[in-house]
Amino acid sequence: MSNLLTSFIETNQPLVEKTLHDLINDLEAPQPLKDAMLYSLQAGGKRIRPLYTLAVLKELDIQNEDAIIVASTIEMIHTYSLIHDDLPAMDNDDLRRGKATNHIVFGEALAILAGDALVTLAFGIIARLQNISPDLKIDLIDKLSFSAGAEGMVGGQVLDMLGEGQTLTLEQLEEVHLNKTGALLSFSILAGAIIANVSEEIRSALEKYAFHIGLAFQIQDDILDVEGTSEQLGKTAGKDLKSEKNTYPSILTMEGAKIELQTQYNLAYEALENVQMQNGLLVEFANYITKRSN
Ligand code: IPE
Ligand code: IPE
Ligand code: MG
Ligand code: MG
Ligand code: MG
Repeated sequence: MSNLLTSFIETNQPLVEKTLHDLINDLEAPQPLKDAMLYSLQAGGKRIRPLYTLAVLKELDIQNEDAIIVASTIEMIHTYSLIHDDLPAMDNDDLRRGKATNHIVFGEALAILAGDALVTLAFGIIARLQNISPDLKIDLIDKLSFSAGAEGMVGGQVLDMLGEGQTLTLEQLEEVHLNKTGALLSFSILAGAIIANVSEEIRSALEKYAFHIGLAFQIQDDILDVEGTSEQLGKTAGKDLKSEKNTYPSILTMEGAKIELQTQYNLAYEALENVQMQNGLLVEFANYITKRSN
């Protein structure tokens, strides 16, 4: 990882951790529910999505004290998706972020409810922000619900599930990946653009960048499932083959998947050509997404 990105993460990740902790801790809700929510939130994710939102704002040289809160709500929705993804009815995983999965520790009912609580909380928190105009908050809520819901992540999870044991075409697999993972990751980039209230031109450049980053991210997730170890990933490696999932390596071979990953990186890079940036953090981030080892 470059020095620039390393120091950006070292500065901002602790703020994300604290914000997440405080937002849950302050809830007037049953303690077992708060415990289950905090357990998965604090199990040690990479925080790629909230950091992306903050990185976009830094590149655009915009400061807004609510940005860290918006960023943290995206991590809440991501964490809810992981809790539910790991359930016996879905991927049936017992290891996540290097720890036992939520349902193993708290039982299925509380795991489902902790996920429900995280996703609903996120929208309310954005609605109540004070330093972002009502128009921009509506835009954030609209795009977040689109990215996380039936036409985005949830729809993608359904396609992923229906594809098990079948052989999808590359176009079908791309649709699965763009929805199940790309949509929310892309939103984290778009959220920075919305908070910064950028011009249409910059917004569409960042949307294009985000589209390719979202796909690249899941291609690398597929690659790591084959090449990584459970210890390195903090989740069960080799799971996709066992569950007969369609992945980039399974459809294109490992070599083909790596070529496609590079293609998506190049397209993301090109999308930034006309965006005036401070210091290249978004290029560094794209590099990290495609080369990460966990
Ligand atoms: C894993 O996401 C799940 C996918 C959407 C592929 P991350 O790799 O960002 O997981 P954490 O947040 O670091 O645990
Ligand atoms: C999960 O995709 C995507 C979401 C959680 C929405 P995967 O099932 O590939 O994620 P991992 O590999 O379990 O993290
Ligand atoms: Mg899954
Ligand atoms: Mg999974
Ligand atoms: Mg995976």
